[in-house]
Amino acid sequence: MKEAIDVLVERLDGLAPTTALVLGSGLGGLVEEVENAVRVPYADLPGFPRSGVTGHAGEIVAGLFAGQPVIMLAGRAHYYEHGDASAMRPALETLAGIGITRLVLTNAAGSVDTEMLPGSIMLIEDHINFAGTNPLFGEPTDRRFVGMTEAYDARLRKAFEAAAGQAGIDLHKGVYMWFSGPSFETPAEIRMARILGANAVGMSTVPEAIIARFLGLKVLACSVVTNLAAGMTGLELSHSDTKDMAPIGGARLAAVLREMFEKDMFDA
Ligand code: HPA
Repeated sequence: MKEAIDVLVERLDGLAPTTALVLGSGLGGLVEEVENAVRVPYADLPGFPRSGVTGHAGEIVAGLFAGQPVIMLAGRAHYYEHGDASAMRPALETLAGIGITRLVLTNAAGSVDTEMLPGSIMLIEDHINFAGTNPLFGEPTDRRFVGMTEAYDARLRKAFEAAAGQAGIDLHKGVYMWFSGPSFETPAEIRMARILGANAVGMSTVPEAIIARFLGLKVLACSVVTNLAAGMTGLELSHSDTKDMAPIGGARLAAVLREMFEKDMFDA
């Protein structure tokens, strides 16, 4: 990781953010709000993923967001791309290595609740790992036994809720269930997810949350609901619909994040 850390520190040229944001599908527009932006393609950072999913670029954009230093990661590796749940580990280790202490994960997700409609945003309070894998497989040290009782930091969640209130944005809260993808779920799987306690389903975020906790980073995560999950409407799901819908909830999520950064609520 040392090489990627050295490259990043040099390009950041004194900027020392402590918060990093991972932008999910269709949420990449947030990078346009970064002032004095320094852009570093993942290709320049050894160990960073080569993401091939449309709607995911693959670069770091660092600078000021709502007046505060930040690093945004536009583009993430998904388990379904190569069957490697730990694909984001080098990137997250690099972030930890340059002094990031808080990681904000965002994603596009399907809603399992009829009351949580497309365009909603859902603060992730907890998750269910239903992908049958773990990014820490193969980690040889006892550090692999990471406590996940409070995977999503309680203080950051409170601050996010407060920011949503101040920004006048309706906020749902719930449990995110990780499915491997890349095929969408079946209606039977969605009925199961609901019975098991999920509110939203998606194909990312959980492995990154696990790696981040392993690295000692505080995690905040929020889903942008792009669709009601499989079988809840008469419609088939598609990635292009996901991408088309993401900016709607994405604008709400951006408003909450802007409030959090502007008021420096991360340390609250
Ligand atoms: N399922 C899984 N992942 C998703 C969905 C979904 O319905 N929508 C957006 N990402």
